[in-house]
Amino acid sequence: MHHFTYRENHLFAEDVDLTALADEVGTPFYVYCEATLRRHLRIFADAFAGTDALIAYSVKASSNISVLKVLASEGAGADVVSAGELHRARAAGIAPEKIVFSGVGKTRDELSFALDANIYQFNVESEPELVALNEIAQAKGQRAPIALRINPDVAAGGHENISTGKSEDKFGVPWSRARALYATARTMGGVEIKGVDVHIGSQIDDLAPFEAAFKKVAVLINDLRSDGCAIERLDLGGGLGIPYGEGATPPHPDAYAAMIKRVTAPLGVQLIFEPGRMIAGNAGALIARVIYVKDGATRKFIILDAGMNDLMRPALYDAYHELWPVVKSSDASEAYDVVGPICESTDRFAKARTLPGQHAGDLIAIMSAGAYGASQTSQYNSRPLIPEILASGERYAVIRKRPTLDEIMDGEAIADWLR
Ligand code: LLP
Repeated sequence: MHHFTYRENHLFAEDVDLTALADEVGTPFYVYCEATLRRHLRIFADAFAGTDALIAYSVKASSNISVLKVLASEGAGADVVSAGELHRARAAGIAPEKIVFSGVGKTRDELSFALDANIYQFNVESEPELVALNEIAQAKGQRAPIALRINPDVAAGGHENISTGKSEDKFGVPWSRARALYATARTMGGVEIKGVDVHIGSQIDDLAPFEAAFKKVAVLINDLRSDGCAIERLDLGGGLGIPYGEGATPPHPDAYAAMIKRVTAPLGVQLIFEPGRMIAGNAGALIARVIYVKDGATRKFIILDAGMNDLMRPALYDAYHELWPVVKSSDASEAYDVVGPICESTDRFAKARTLPGQHAGDLIAIMSAGAYGASQTSQYNSRPLIPEILASGERYAVIRKRPTLDEIMDGEAIADWLR
């Protein structure tokens, strides 16, 4: 559920009128509802009430510092995948004892930075990473708390580009080598084994692959314990899908939690979760204005002022996003291809989508864009990154401003021999 609703045919984000907001801040922009962020985190936390669980919000989904601050105030920790994300999480006030560090290619500098920050857990994804972490921690006189991310060889995920748990994927330690690598880790003075980590993909709308992976991991934990490893924590990653308005309806967090409690209760471990999309996805929308309505040879195009650089998901994953008119009209519906202004054929938000008749100047909300929207943007075609707005009741704040055309060249320089 979310907090975008129509009042007298005008779309609001909480109590903020998006037509007025568009006039105020200009288009395109992202807008998030604070109430939805809070609500989703609470739903997830409530589903695990009574269990020892750390909810480490996956910062990559939406990493604006105000978004992190909202979630931190609800008690969320952070799942980070870079020094930059760790820096953000700390700047938002998330305590190091609630931060886990994931990622297949953490650099030595990043490992060192995270050791200095005293984070809760390193999710180590390979033997060379383990060796590097051990060396760096020993040099600092520290023992890094670790889990090994195990690749359970289970297929899952909404699109092949977001599946991570198959043996051919680059992620995690191969299932067949897990016990041996834990044995190696036990001999290392710079790491301390805390747990096991698994993450199989994203936008998963079925409990079966989760259950298959988690059951495999439960067996591994028992094996590791019989090998003498003290496993206290189980990080189950993220991946729970959200309704995008098309395709299967993902399970409710309560059903997800019930399955997990059933599978993991006998293990007596602390559970760690890394939800991203489930928290932020339906909290955000991208508001764009129609620049032109163009009659093509075989179809009608709506050309928006937002492009694939502002929201990459349709171009990258054929993702479906609902399109809502910001002002409802009674104009007869038509089928449109809804595209952006970028010089690429993949710059398309929807194909043959039926919408009430659109005209230049109309506003369209691209829904469910709160996760992997703003965090995946680029300045391709030298288009300034678009603003992010946080709505909270009747208030709103610009939480990332639109750079000026000069600012989009920040950091660039004319080589001295060209001056
Ligand atoms: N933990 C790890 C280790 C991850 O790799 C991810 C997402 C998450 C947690 C959070 O997963 P979530 O709960 O959001 O499904 N850009 C793609 C999704 C990429 C997901 C990458 N990893 C998209 O827009 O669909």
